[in-house]
Amino acid sequence: MTTAQQLQSDPDIESGIQGLLDNLAKHQEQIQGIRPADPALTEDYEKTLAEFSTLRGGKLFFPYLASGLGKGPFVELADGSVKYDYTCGIGVHLMGHSHPRIVEASLKASLEDVVMQGNIQQNQASFDLTKRLISLAQRQGSALNHCFLSSSGVMSGENALKMALQKNSPASRVLAFERCFAGRSIAFSQINDKPAFRQGLPTVLHVDYVPFFDESDPEGSTRRSVEVLSGHLKRYPGEHAAMIFELIQGEGGFYPGSADYHRALMEMCREHKVAVLADEVQTFARTLQPFAFQHFGLDDLIDIVWIGKAAQVCATLFTDHYAPKPGLIAQTYTSSTSAIAASLATLDELENGSYFGDDGKTNRLHTFFREGLIAISERHPQLLTGPWGLGAMTGCTPLQGESSKVLALLHELYAKGIICFVAGANPMRMRFLMPIGALEEVHITETLEIFEATLIEMSV
Ligand SMILES: Cc1ncc(COP(=O)(O)O)c(C=O)c1O
Repeated sequence: MTTAQQLQSDPDIESGIQGLLDNLAKHQEQIQGIRPADPALTEDYEKTLAEFSTLRGGKLFFPYLASGLGKGPFVELADGSVKYDYTCGIGVHLMGHSHPRIVEASLKASLEDVVMQGNIQQNQASFDLTKRLISLAQRQGSALNHCFLSSSGVMSGENALKMALQKNSPASRVLAFERCFAGRSIAFSQINDKPAFRQGLPTVLHVDYVPFFDESDPEGSTRRSVEVLSGHLKRYPGEHAAMIFELIQGEGGFYPGSADYHRALMEMCREHKVAVLADEVQTFARTLQPFAFQHFGLDDLIDIVWIGKAAQVCATLFTDHYAPKPGLIAQTYTSSTSAIAASLATLDELENGSYFGDDGKTNRLHTFFREGLIAISERHPQLLTGPWGLGAMTGCTPLQGESSKVLALLHELYAKGIICFVAGANPMRMRFLMPIGALEEVHITETLEIFEATLIEMSV
């Protein structure tokens, strides 16, 4: 045993950590459901928020500053209020707030010697996570046999893109879906199908867009997208290095593709030696399989995939064929020691906790949420359409998707104790990124009651 292993398995350390967890649970008892702000804290809270907005150079989207304690789907804010959290850091807190297994993992990690892991000096857990992610990615037979950890979703995407561009050089064009979003670097600002996100930036990459799948016309939309892809490939023969697949569009509005649709496009990419890249920053751990490419059965076609958010650590997984040449990929931080430990604990929870598959918890909660939204839309067809999405990505279109109305509803829900988020434009949808590790049907029932009452209130 190393000295570190002796420390980690020391019974005094174990019981010290257990004592801290018991204490955490005792304080969490005070968080039993949504509650309003404590009047004694609100004045200071508002001042802090105003100052924070000034310091960061832009208004905060929500008047949100958390206290640092939560319980499952509930988060306590620094004004003492408690709210349901269906935004979860835009999809990060899949296990909810103050999850005991995650806290335990990060307490143990805090005893390690360094806060951050780096590319050239890493602790054992970096190896464990790398190996674990590869075996998860290969569980249905994909050829993804390498994994490079990284510090943000967009950085793991940049790494993927660089590998594809290097391998397929001199091809340099990229294909992507209309309405796609993939992060905020300069390269991805070109790829995101949103002019405002690249306003004033130089063109560093040439991108050709393919329309996304239309659920209301599966065969027609697949045919049209194949035609558009084929048109781009003919217009610029041999010039495309990669196509980026966001298998379920997240920021774009919770639009899932289908297995046949993605397969038709991916096969065409393969025929033309265009790398098949999947951006799973938002979809990882949210469908009925760990990876969305597994959910859609596309294991045989994936060249590179990248993840983030719910995984706690970001990573790029790739096949031998796309392995980078020395010098292409490196960075100071891969992630923090506690995030790596939290990532491993999250994977333990997901794999041991029956989340995946048709009968798993993710599908059960999605179906329950979905049925609740359908019932509301049947009672108020003029106020709500949908639902859309799948797994732990559930969305709907309230108030005809008019952005000003949907945003007003979002902020009113926030005031009433429900934090959810928007996605897409024209129509603007409302999305619920469920903290499936901590959520139960009883929470969804209460959420939908508040949602329906607020929807009715906002429609008059
Ligand atoms: C599909 C997708 N790709 C990439 C990103 C960028 O991730 P990050 O913000 O961690 O850089 C996001 C973030 O919302 C995303 O949804």
